[in-house]
Amino acid sequence: MSEPRPAGPPPIRLRDVARSYGRHLALAGIDLEVRAGERVAILGASGAGKSTLLALMGGSLAPTSGTVELFGQDITRLAGSPRRRLQRRIGTVSQRLTLVEQVRVLHNVNAGRLAEWSTGRALGSLLWPRGLDEVRDALDRVDLGWALHERTERLSGGERQRVAIARLLVQCPELVLADEPVSSLDPVGAAHVLGLIGDPGLARTLVVSLHQPLLAQEHCTRAVGLREGMVVFDVPVAELEQQRLHDLYARA
Ligand SMILES: Nc1ncnc2c1ncn2[C@@H]1O[C@H](COP(=O)(O)OP(=O)(O)O)[C@@H](O)[C@H]1O
Ligand SMILES: [Mg+2]
Repeated sequence: MSEPRPAGPPPIRLRDVARSYGRHLALAGIDLEVRAGERVAILGASGAGKSTLLALMGGSLAPTSGTVELFGQDITRLAGSPRRRLQRRIGTVSQRLTLVEQVRVLHNVNAGRLAEWSTGRALGSLLWPRGLDEVRDALDRVDLGWALHERTERLSGGERQRVAIARLLVQCPELVLADEPVSSLDPVGAAHVLGLIGDPGLARTLVVSLHQPLLAQEHCTRAVGLREGMVVFDVPVAELEQQRLHDLYARA
């Protein structure tokens, strides 16, 4: 057994973060820390600011004010290779599928390496059996071993979302940020995909925005409620009460 490692800086720390789009204030006064090993659900009605929050956490969107630290580093102050090194530690899944439809499944899975390798090396790696073995293992873990050579566009929505997860398995991120990854799936597909995303074998730490509180209770440890760009609760999932949820989704 290895020695327990000393706790490093938290994967995510937001301090007094605000984000505007033009004159529209989408998020304000966000102080949020996500510790290693946590599985955090972001809940809130449409327009509450969930996608904005996840984009800030991944560094793809800059805050209008406040600071966003990932693994102890201020992402807005990083550029070039230090920034790429940091972003390699983060895997993202979104509601919109970000796969290339016209190519075979194995190429989409292998794209998990792109963060690590140059495009040429990632594509060239497919000629090496070792690269192919890893892709095959990842597809087996999401029950898509049969789809290795299929064209991506032939798969169903749930199957494609599982391809996106296989791509994460190849990437091995420490932190996964998933923005409504199951909102386009039926209940069985949603439970399956969330089970895979929530598996600590994929990434130690998870932040996932969800529309159904029940899924948060099943797959997460902590729930953060957003309403009109502000955090209205931040509780262990066991304390998610009906009234709180009602307040979250009630119309203003
Ligand atoms: N690119 C954008 N330009 C202008 N307004 C935006 C943009 N993205 C989001 N918004 C607005 O910011 C608010 C929060 O949006 P978003 O983060 O997408 O919420 P959610 O993901 O919870 O539905 C909404 O009022 C939305 O209309
Ligand atoms: Mg959204």
